[in-house]
Formats: sequence, C-alpha cells, structure tokens
Amino acid sequence: MRKIIRIAGISLVALAVLAGIGALFISVRGVPSYAVPAIPPRAVAVTPARLAQGEKLAVAMCADCHLNKSTRSLTGGLLADLPPQFGRLYATNITQDPTHGISRWTDAELIGLLRTGIGRDGRYRLIMPKFVHMSDEDINSLVVFLRSNHAWVQPKAVVSPPQQPSFLAKALTYTVMKPAPLPTQAIVEPPASDPVALGHYLVTARYLCYDCHSQSFQTNNELEPEKSKGYLGGGNEFISTDGSTITSRNLTMDSETGLGDWTAEEFTRTVKYGLSTRRPVRAPMPRFSVMSDEEARAIFAYLQTVPKIKAEAPEAQATVAAR
Ligand code: HEC
Ligand code: HEC
Repeated sequence: MRKIIRIAGISLVALAVLAGIGALFISVRGVPSYAVPAIPPRAVAVTPARLAQGEKLAVAMCADCHLNKSTRSLTGGLLADLPPQFGRLYATNITQDPTHGISRWTDAELIGLLRTGIGRDGRYRLIMPKFVHMSDEDINSLVVFLRSNHAWVQPKAVVSPPQQPSFLAKALTYTVMKPAPLPTQAIVEPPASDPVALGHYLVTARYLCYDCHSQSFQTNNELEPEKSKGYLGGGNEFISTDGSTITSRNLTMDSETGLGDWTAEEFTRTVKYGLSTRRPVRAPMPRFSVMSDEEARAIFAYLQTVPKIKAEAPEAQATVAAR
C-alpha cells in the first residue's frame, strides 16, 4: 500500500517537474513560428471595383484595431478591449512605410497572413483575425487597398511596440490559437439572389460576426464556424473602456433571449449604426455603417435558419433583476 502511495507520489512529482519544464519552454520560446504559407508569387491586379471593395472591408474589418486616431492612418495601437489575462498586444503599423509598415511584404505574403495568421517571417500573429473562408475577390480587394493611395495607408514611420503576450496567451498558441490552412479551392461569394447563403458568407467569412457572437474565442472553430461552441448564442467577453465586462449578445432567434421578436429594419439599424430602441449597443460591437441594407437583410435571413439557443447575457439578467 505504502509503496503504491510512494509511486503515486513520485509520479506526481515527475508530472509537476514535467509541467514546470513545459511552462519554462513556453515562456522562453514564446509564440511559435511556422513554415511561411506556400502561395505562388502573384501581383493582384488593381481594378476600381477592388479598390472600392477593399476600402469598405478595411473600414469594417481592419480599422477597429489598426486605425490610430492621432495619426489618422493604419499605424495601429494597443488593443484596449482585450481582456488583460492575454497580456498587452498591439495592432501593428500596416501603412506603406518600408521599415515600420508593410510595403516590403509581397502580395502573396499578405494573402498568406490574412488567410493563415502566419507572417512573412513565419511568426504566428496573435489575435489578428484569420479570413479562412473569405472569397478570393475580397482578399484581393484588401491587398489592392493596402497598396492604394488612400490616406490611411500612406507611409508613416511609427514604431510598433513589442508584443507582450501573457503566459496564458503564449500557452494558447500551443493549443487552440493555431494557424489555419490555406483554402484548397477557389472561394466565390454567393449571389444576392440567395440571401440565406449570402448571409452565411457574411457572418462566417466576411464580417466574422460568429467570432465575437459565439461563446468564447477559445472554443471557436475557425475551419467549421458552425461547430463553434454556442454558435451565435453570444456570451463572449470583452473589456469596455471603463474596465467593466461586456458580453456579446445572442443573435439566434430565441424569442426571449435572442432576436426572435426583432424586425429586419430594427436589426439593420442596430448593426449599421448601433441604433437600437431596446438597449445601448456599446463597443466593441463595430458600427457596420459601410454594410449595404441588402447585406444586413441577408444576415437577418440567414439568422432565421440558425439553431436557436436560450442564453441570456449576464448584464441583461441584471437589468431584468433591477426592474
Ligand atoms: C482584433 C484586432 C485586429 C483586426 C480586426 C485586424 N488586425 Fe491586423 N493585426 C492585429 C495584431 C494584434 C497584429 C500584430 C500581431 C503580432 O505581431 O503578433 C496584426 C498584424 C497585422 C499584419 C502584420 C504586420 C506585421 O508587420 O507583422 C497585417 C498585414 C495586418 N495585421 C493586416 C490587417 C488587415 C488587412 C486587417 C483587416 C482585414 C486586419 N489586420 C485586422 C490585430 C488586428
Ligand atoms: C468585435 C466583436 C463583435 C463583432 C465582430 C460583432 N459584434 Fe455584434 N456585438 C458585440 C458585443 C460585445 C455586443 C453587445 C454590446 C452591448 O452589450 O452594449 C454586440 C451586440 C450586437 C447586437 C445587439 C443585440 C441586442 O440584443 O441588443 C446585434 C444585433 C449584433 N451585435 C449583431 C452583429 C452582427 C450582425 C455582426 C456581424 C456583421 C456583429 N454583431 C459583429 C460584439 C461584436
């Protein structure tokens, strides 16, 4: 008996030592690097349509993190609404500055990063969203925008501070925060004549609503978004500017805790301008003011088809209790 206890004791010590070595390894080695995505060299052709679409996508999908209010360009800054347990992370300078920005990146390298999260140096870019299912045309449009004459991307020699990921953030890059594979075939945006398919595209590929509106970034499934825990049921946590916690809302059609009794008009106004008659819509919920009404209606049509989840956001419960 004693022997068994002793052996158990020794293996516990061994486990603790192993865990210690693992922790040391993670803190010393930091965020892992990978092989740079193998995308054949290419020069994305500039067209007026791509330029316009790229600007729209940058406003909706890049500005929240990379637009710096004082430089009025994409020089980046601290991600203030990131929960502090992830450390201090900075969106980097993505203007055309050759030293501090991205003008030395090739089109293929930019596409590789946007798709997989792996930079031209092989380092995995933390927190930066991956556009795994975005159409080839949308990705090309983003590249055209980054290369354009738009004021936001003109060279600015702003130095990006070194990233300070916490131990937890580093550990997560060895478990759940991993690069995504490159798509294996061409990706085309569904036509507006099929609003449900278009809405699905917008939620999972272009605007990534599911990423914030499912239970947690840590349990989201980037390859198969619908398999994310609590898909579109809300509950993901953010830190607001005053330090309080804000939880994303339930976007499924549950009539009590979701959007079951919303109209398409109300939904469109809320998503585009944050104008909801029900309650304030605070950051980090973006204002998708560049979204067309057709897109908003397509998302609403798609949400009608998503399995309902009954899940009240904690603040909503507090409001009900206070009534
Ligand atoms: C949620 C915040 C966030 C959003 C939204 C975001 N990024 Fe980033 N981005 C980051 C962070 C943080 C880094 C730096 C990560 C690192 O160095 O580990 C980064 C890095 C990059 C880099 C690499 C720069 C370098 O020198 O390493 C590029 C290019 C980039 N982002 C482009 C974009 C584009 C284009 C969009 C919009 C389609 C976008 N990002 C949206 C947070 C964001
Ligand atoms: C960066 C994270 C983020 C992204 C991306 C995001 N949301 Fe939100 N959204 C939130 C948060 C957080 C709230 C809650 C805000 C509050 O409580 O004040 C919210 C609130 C909402 C609301 C209000 C719901 C209610 O019950 O009051 C709607 C509708 C909504 N989001 C739809 C969308 C759609 C559609 C998309 C994609 C086009 C989207 N969101 C993308 C974080 C996000």
